[in-house]
Amino acid sequence: MPIVNVLAADRGDEPLQMDHLRLVTEEPPPLPDAAVCRVGVIGLGYVGLPLVLGYAKASRAIGLDISASKIEELRRGIDFTGEVHGDELKAADALFTTDPRCLAEADVIIVCVPTPVNSHNRPDYGPLLAASRSIGQNLKRGSVVVFESTVDPGTTEERCLPIIEQVSGFKEGIDFYLGYSPERINPADPTRKLADIKKIVAGSTPEVTDFLEALYSRVVKAGLFKAASIRVAEAAKILENTQRDVNIALMNQMMTLFDKMGVRSTDVIAAASSKWNFHHYRPGLVGGHCIAVDPYFLVDAGRRHGLPMELVAAARAVNEQTPLYLVEKLEDLFAARRSGLHGTRVLVLGRSFKEDCPDTRNSKTFPMMDALWNRGAEVFNFDPVAFDDHFEGGRGARNIDDPFAEGPYDAVIITLTHAVFRQQFDAATLINLAPKHAPLIDMRGSFESPEVKDWFRYWRP
Ligand SMILES: NC(=O)c1ccc[n+]([C@@H]2O[C@H](COP(=O)([O-])OP(=O)(O)OC[C@H]3O[C@@H](n4cnc5c(N)ncnc54)[C@H](O)[C@@H]3O)[C@@H](O)[C@H]2O)c1
Repeated sequence: MPIVNVLAADRGDEPLQMDHLRLVTEEPPPLPDAAVCRVGVIGLGYVGLPLVLGYAKASRAIGLDISASKIEELRRGIDFTGEVHGDELKAADALFTTDPRCLAEADVIIVCVPTPVNSHNRPDYGPLLAASRSIGQNLKRGSVVVFESTVDPGTTEERCLPIIEQVSGFKEGIDFYLGYSPERINPADPTRKLADIKKIVAGSTPEVTDFLEALYSRVVKAGLFKAASIRVAEAAKILENTQRDVNIALMNQMMTLFDKMGVRSTDVIAAASSKWNFHHYRPGLVGGHCIAVDPYFLVDAGRRHGLPMELVAAARAVNEQTPLYLVEKLEDLFAARRSGLHGTRVLVLGRSFKEDCPDTRNSKTFPMMDALWNRGAEVFNFDPVAFDDHFEGGRGARNIDDPFAEGPYDAVIITLTHAVFRQQFDAATLINLAPKHAPLIDMRGSFESPEVKDWFRYWRP
């Protein structure tokens, strides 16, 4: 049965004229052929770039980004995230562009733009809404629009869809289709790439969900999970990340309490892990733009629904405080020093937000280094893995290339253990960095040995 509908195209402030109205008497267009349809991806970062390359295998894919320098790098076969190989990038049948008009060529448009928070930890939907406008301006009838960015439930249908409809003059379910499929990739983990992780898909109708299952099976080999609705899929992703944040916060708080009691939390966790239903989490600095950000979207959603998300907010606060605890710990280890950290030279090994990952965005090493600097320490930072174009914050820290050339230091803090640190440092080399009885904080406990404990005032969680 043909659908009769009157649609008004968005003309900004122009008064509505009769020729702006469109009478739709056609059948809704069929969904594209999932096996060969052309995919366009908006946002070519950690999430979007592997998708473009995956979809480029069956038909030419389109990769759109607002960053001209990123597009230039990708065209030259360079991916600073380290997630894809240069050869793969150069060989891919993909168009890398900053021109949103190219989206008009796509049968499916997948949105992978950032979903950050602002300086007040409130959600910043700006990139998502800008991408929705680009889609609206260039959407062709019969396309499928899929959001992958992590959001609070309702965002896709209540914030993004209205913009696409208003700008395009099209109607979802009549002219185009909508879906959501959260990404679960684990940057810097070679065993969990896009193809290896089961993916959730949800469409606006069961038919769209089936289409997404077929579409994503082109790039995901670990299987698909069909969620009950777009909102369920949105909620599932944000729950996964919030669960992790809350559990790490518990470990961080336990670390602080047990430490005051003279008990090592990692010893406690090892003992508790002998029980079958104990969940293994360890203390650490929770940074980056996923685990340390997504729970704030839930806190904000709770505020809008009149439900204070106290547990989630408290966990965030604990994890935000953890870098400062390490600074206080260092002061403790310097207890005999009457001037505290003032005038000390502190070497910090590690800057990126997680092991073996170049990404330093929202790394909690920065507030830690700021706090050291505020207390009068001279801070030296060494991280050969970190990608320096993203060096943000750490006002007082000097980024150094050779930690041995700048030494000796009064104290060393190892925030995380990159594989390259294991090759570069051992008891013998660490001892060269600082005089006997200098404090050494080893957040991952990777360098504990009788020699290290004999030389340093050694602490691990
Ligand atoms: N990185 C991860 O491990 C990971 C995992 C799962 C989910 N996510 C989620 O996926 C989304 C993307 O994350 P990411 O890590 O790939 O981000 P990213 O910052 O690495 O990449 C995003 C890209 O989008 C581009 N961009 C921003 N606004 C744009 C616009 N309006 N039009 C076109 N391009 C635009 C940026 O220039 C950037 O290149 C976020 O919502 C994130 O929470 C990330």
